[in-house]
Amino acid sequence: MKSALSVKDLSLNIGGAKILDGITLDVAPNETLGIIGPNGAGKTSFFNLLSGIRKPSRGQIFVGDVETTNLQPHECARAGIARTFQTSSVFVNLTCLENVRIAAQAANGQSMNLTKNAYKFTEVVQTAHDCLAKVGLTARAMQRAGSLSHGDKRRLEIAIVLASQSDIVLLDEPMAGMSVENVPELVEIIRALATEHKKTVLIVEHHMEVILGLADRIAVLNYGELLVCDTPQNVINNPIVQSAYIGEAL
Ligand SMILES: Nc1ncnc2c1ncn2[C@@H]1O[C@H](COP(=O)(O)OP(=O)(O)O)[C@@H](O)[C@H]1O
Ligand SMILES: [Mg+2]
Repeated sequence: MKSALSVKDLSLNIGGAKILDGITLDVAPNETLGIIGPNGAGKTSFFNLLSGIRKPSRGQIFVGDVETTNLQPHECARAGIARTFQTSSVFVNLTCLENVRIAAQAANGQSMNLTKNAYKFTEVVQTAHDCLAKVGLTARAMQRAGSLSHGDKRRLEIAIVLASQSDIVLLDEPMAGMSVENVPELVEIIRALATEHKKTVLIVEHHMEVILGLADRIAVLNYGELLVCDTPQNVINNPIVQSAYIGEAL
C-alpha cells in the first residue's frame, strides 16, 4: 500500500550540531505512529520539518506522492499535515467556536470575508460545532479559549485539527501538563482520530502507557537518529532501545 507519509534521509543541522541525522521512515495510511525518545532527541524538530516550520539540511519528505520537503507551513497544511504544539497554541482571545471555525473555513478554501456567502458561513459554523462536539467541548463553544483549563485547550486543539480536514495529524506531547485523571479521556479522543476519522496520526508522548495503548508502531529517536521503528512489543524488548533509555522509565 502507498504510504501516507514518507521521509528519506531526513537531516537537520543547526550551527554545526546534528539535530536530526538520516531519518528514513514510512507511515501507512490510517496508522498511528508513536514517537519516543529522551529529551532533546529531536522529536519536536522532526515535527518542525514535517510541518514546514524548518527546512531540512538534507533529505526529502513526501505526503502521498507530493513532495513537501521545502514547502512553507501553510502549504504543508494544504498538502494535508496538521499539527498541535508542545505548548498550546490556540487563539486565546477568541471563543472556542471561533478558533475551530477559522480552521474549518480555511479547509473550505474560503476567504475570511464572512459576509460574502452567508449560506457557506452557516455550513462552516455547523462543522465547527460538530468538531467541538466530537471532543466534548459543546458546552464551552462560546467561552474564550484562553479561559479553558489546560486539558480543555488540548481538546480544542484536536477539534481544530478535525476541522482542518487534514489526513495527517502530528501531536506533540498532547498529555503534557494534564492531570492524571484527565489522561484516559484524551487518549480516547486521540484514538478516535484514527478509528473514527481515519487520520494518520504521529504522536510524540512521554507517557509510555499512552503510546503503548495507541500506537501501531513506535519510532525511537535518540540523539537525532532513528534507533528503531517497530511494533510496541518489539520496541520494548529491543536491547538497543533499553540501553538508550537506561535511567529513564520505559
Ligand atoms: N532553534 C534551535 N537552535 C539550536 N538548537 C536547537 C534549536 N531547536 C532545537 N535545538 C536542539 O535540538 C535538539 C533537539 O531538540 P527537540 O527537537 O526540541 O527535542 P525533543 O522534542 O525530542 O525534546 C536539542 O538538543 C535542542 O537543544
Ligand atoms: Mg519536544
